Amino acid sequence: MENIHPIFNKILTSDQKALLLNQRALVVWMVGMSGSGKSTLARALENELYSRGFYTMLIDGDNLRTGLNNNLGFSEEDRVENIRRAAETARLFANNGVVTICSLISPTTAIRKMAREIIGQNYFEVFIHCPLDVCEQRDVKGLYAKARRGEIKNFTGIDSPFEPPLHPQLEIRTDRVSEEKALKILIEAIVPEIIYKK
Ligand code: ADX
Repeated sequence: MENIHPIFNKILTSDQKALLLNQRALVVWMVGMSGSGKSTLARALENELYSRGFYTMLIDGDNLRTGLNNNLGFSEEDRVENIRRAAETARLFANNGVVTICSLISPTTAIRKMAREIIGQNYFEVFIHCPLDVCEQRDVKGLYAKARRGEIKNFTGIDSPFEPPLHPQLEIRTDRVSEEKALKILIEAIVPEIIYKK
């Protein structure tokens, strides 16, 4: 880190941003297997927060992998780097007062620990919990079928691990509750966290 001169001490603080935006920043980190409903709920959450006057940003694994992370695959090493960049990006937004919703599989305990460490106290983990057989039955993108045929390697839940989060702040069983109910649970947990308090 030679010859680097950060200006962190001169830039506006996150409190000043919070005051301007009239909200407290948070990173809602949605964890879950492909097909669990993460992206659907992330979109629904963003829409609902928008309609309530909150300023948000949505970071979705699939989208990120078309741009910033388009040089990464699905090896363990690449997933770590994928999550590192996503978490650093989320941190930048959250430090600027934005309620940042992240939707990435984040399959291992170690990966989530890294994200939590990068983001710090704003990290709010939500486990979008849906059993593998249900995700596989839904197979919205047809990827499970391809993975079973061996056309995709290292597919999460098939031949690549998914370690369920043990202590998320919130857990939603999307095979048991409707999308509407899941959104209600999210809103009830998140809105109190992002309301501006002096
Ligand atoms: S993560 O493991 O690094 O967190 P991320 O959320 O960015 O994954 O990307 C997952 C998405 O990539 C899935 O929703 C799916 O559409 C697609 N995908 C393609 N190949 C794989 C794979 N081998 N394992 C999991 N998802 C895959």
